[in-house]
Amino acid sequence: MPQRPDADLREKDVTPEWVYRRRRLLGGALGLGALSLAACADGDPAGDEVALADPGEDPFRTRETLTRFEDATSYNNFYEFGTGKADPARHAHRLVTRPWSLAIEGEAERTGVFALEDILARTTQVERIYRLRCVEGWSMVIPWQGFELRELLALFRPTSRARYVAFTTLADPAQMPGLRFPVLDWPYVEGLRIDEAMHPLTLVATGMYGRTLPNQNGAPLRLVVPWKYGFKSIKSIVRIRFVEEQPATSWNRAQPDEYGFYSNVNPEVDHPRWSQKTERRLAGSGNRLLARRIPTLPFNGYATQVASLYAGMDLRRHF
Ligand code: MTE
Repeated sequence: MPQRPDADLREKDVTPEWVYRRRRLLGGALGLGALSLAACADGDPAGDEVALADPGEDPFRTRETLTRFEDATSYNNFYEFGTGKADPARHAHRLVTRPWSLAIEGEAERTGVFALEDILARTTQVERIYRLRCVEGWSMVIPWQGFELRELLALFRPTSRARYVAFTTLADPAQMPGLRFPVLDWPYVEGLRIDEAMHPLTLVATGMYGRTLPNQNGAPLRLVVPWKYGFKSIKSIVRIRFVEEQPATSWNRAQPDEYGFYSNVNPEVDHPRWSQKTERRLAGSGNRLLARRIPTLPFNGYATQVASLYAGMDLRRHF
């Protein structure tokens, strides 16, 4: 039986095995054994009573039971602040999010470095309630505020050579203690095909639950791509580059057999170490361990909207 990464509270099972091993090795070598303490000892989040609406009803605002704000902000992946689920909430207060600027580079008519305020002034704020499904087997339902990525791209007018969009997270060791550990090849990078980036579901979040985006969730700007595994939703973005060739992505670079470029949620393609057929929905109140396990839907329930982007592709090969 493949082991489910969220089956219990041990760090070993919520951290990719190779990261865990590498960190133990590092911890031993650097005398930082304490790093291997339970990463999930972060309270008692998530729930047992969840209403599951037809997810296709309104793709922009699912009516499923929301995840509690406390849970969405205390059980996070943001490896720049540590690999434990509680580390981002503990350390992300060090991140300075104002002033913030975004570099736009590559195949576009307008490139340069732009102040966040100027970008916000030129984009339309919307609210989206999306399911976010982590590759590790848990999912949340979060009300985001932000703007559609396609609005941002239109401001810079990518040329016809721009086939992909590459994103980069800030990498500042003074603010991000996790950068001391080579668990990923920093900075964190991600990429989308240009048509994925232009899809109206693809959001740049600047807030959640009606509040400014908490640092641990990727302030001040993070991507949300609801039909892809959560790791595509890159946080604290400082650079967007329009490119001709498929860009590198952090998880694919780290573990190419486990994480592909596309990373579309697909219950038919198992992660090499566990099944992706079901997910533990962290929503409502209650204990995370009792959270209801529900079937995972193709494209995370957004197949009607996005399956056509992949027509003719073998999604077992392009996983
Ligand atoms: N972005 C950066 N820069 N660093 C990360 O470690 N983790 C990813 C993604 N974006 C990550 C990141 C993963 S694995 C997931 S599941 C989501 O963020 C989690 O988002 P959340 O913490 O807001 O739920």
